Amino acid sequence: MALIRKKSSPADASPEASKGSKPVRSSTIIGELEHKRDRAREGGGQARVEAQHSKGKLTARERLEVLLDPDSFEEYDMFVEHRCTHFGMEANKTPGDGCVTGHGTINGRLAFVYSQDFTVFGGSLSETNALKICKILDMAMKTGAPVIGLCDSGGARIQEGVDSLGGYAEIFQRNVLASGVIPQISVIMGPCAGGAVYSPALTDFIVMVRGTSYMFVTGPEVVKTVTHEIVTQEQLGGADTHTHKTGVADLAYANDIEALLQTRRMFNFLPLSNKSGVPVRPTSDPADRIEMSLNTLVPENANRAYNMKELIERVADEGDFFEIQPDYAKNIITGFGRMEGHTVGFVANQPMQLAGCLDIDSARKGARFVRFCDAFNIPIVTFVDVPGFMPGTYQEHNGIIKHGAKLLYAYAEATVPKITVITRKAYGGAYDVMSSKHLRGDLNYAWPSAEIAVMGPKGAVEIIFRGKFKSEEEEQKLIDDYRAKFASPFVAASRGFIDDVIRPQNTRWRICRSLAVLRDKDVKNPWKKHDNLPL
Ligand code: HXC
Repeated sequence: MALIRKKSSPADASPEASKGSKPVRSSTIIGELEHKRDRAREGGGQARVEAQHSKGKLTARERLEVLLDPDSFEEYDMFVEHRCTHFGMEANKTPGDGCVTGHGTINGRLAFVYSQDFTVFGGSLSETNALKICKILDMAMKTGAPVIGLCDSGGARIQEGVDSLGGYAEIFQRNVLASGVIPQISVIMGPCAGGAVYSPALTDFIVMVRGTSYMFVTGPEVVKTVTHEIVTQEQLGGADTHTHKTGVADLAYANDIEALLQTRRMFNFLPLSNKSGVPVRPTSDPADRIEMSLNTLVPENANRAYNMKELIERVADEGDFFEIQPDYAKNIITGFGRMEGHTVGFVANQPMQLAGCLDIDSARKGARFVRFCDAFNIPIVTFVDVPGFMPGTYQEHNGIIKHGAKLLYAYAEATVPKITVITRKAYGGAYDVMSSKHLRGDLNYAWPSAEIAVMGPKGAVEIIFRGKFKSEEEEQKLIDDYRAKFASPFVAASRGFIDDVIRPQNTRWRICRSLAVLRDKDVKNPWKKHDNLPL
């Protein structure tokens, strides 16, 4: 990676040159250094900074101040300038060239960062911008620390042409090699269009800002020309579109500050790399806390919903749960919490949404989260209440077979500690998928309210005894018989598919103890070049 040094930078001042005139020469250089630093800090100038503020956006440097611990930021390549000589560009240079890069800390833990400066050529990516970002990615890989990119860019620097495109691809290549080695987070804080969307798409988490950020491959004008659809930027690729509809983004917040503060919060849960182990935070929440309220969480009536998020919050340390994709595929819940101070990933069916069924979107959401946890050695705690896969032509014709297989695949290949608690329904194929014993679940528990069977009692009776019962009373008796025989945890427990039937109030301490037992778990999958996940 070539670092462009200006002749006047301190590193280039030879001792010979300064002999006899040292104070004058060095004070000139120091003056020039400060002047250049000031120029870099000005970005695209006061007017453009004001324009940025008037849109409710912070500048690239202000954002880093919010994201990183005070005084922790150390900047690289502040004097890098673009090398473009077309369209009069040689006369239009800003030190740093509109991309602020370096490293800092978040709650004392190292992070590499880049922040695109919209005030300099609309944050567009020049060849030298790309080199700066690549340097950050290379440093992060060498040192084993996450990368956080703050994106606010008009895309490829139009004046540079293919040099800029090449730069993008250099970044993509590094994003891919870093995937699964260091966590990568993209915070979209302005435009992100064209091929530029693919660097964030290759990273682990995308955070967006409502109202001021958007992501699309082709913008509204092109859409109008090609498909004659009329759509706004916000509708096409705004934060709500990507967090509710597409699932491209994981989280959306009201403004820059909230997005950056929540990114800090998420960062606190993440390991620095795939070798670092999970972060451990001291907690005052006792590992053996009994949670009596859980005994009444599951309603008596099996058809009534309850909020699975309550279970996660009552079990996790201090009720602190950082949900990932809270607005997308709400029938599955994914997110980070801590047990005895150690980060864990929670995955849970949500009976309040589509009765907790697995469908295409929830399978994809769950699979991606499970794979992230596995890649970074984060144990997975799974809470199960699933009546099965979602029926219907939409699901079948859009590939529920392949997409459902993703979640199955993710659980089956995961070698991190896996704890499962079945709270109520675990029916059919979905029982197998949700971290069952057969997919190498390490410790699988069930509450007494669990029903583990091929399907619900009513459906089962309707199939087995179709046309054979004469009255509703007779049908009800058959349903009750089926429920007594199969819709309980004990058949599965008698086979050893469930390690223990536990009281709900004991869930936290049983999980804490299980995780402690599994802390040094060592399981390896067979050697392969890579797997062939059903994409
Ligand atoms: C050079 C750019 C630029 C770009 C914006 N600017 N985008 N300069 N290359 N890509 C400059 C503008 O000239 C302007 O300069 C300043 O940034 C701010 O832009 P405005 O248009 O005034 O801002 P705004 O109205 O907020 O609109 C923002 C915008 C618009 C929607 C991003 O600028 C825009 O449409 N830009 C072009 C986007 C684009 O087509 N990019 C290429 C996409 S293809 P002054 O001097 O007036 O402040 C691509 C391929 C990537 O990216 C492939 C990767 C594999």
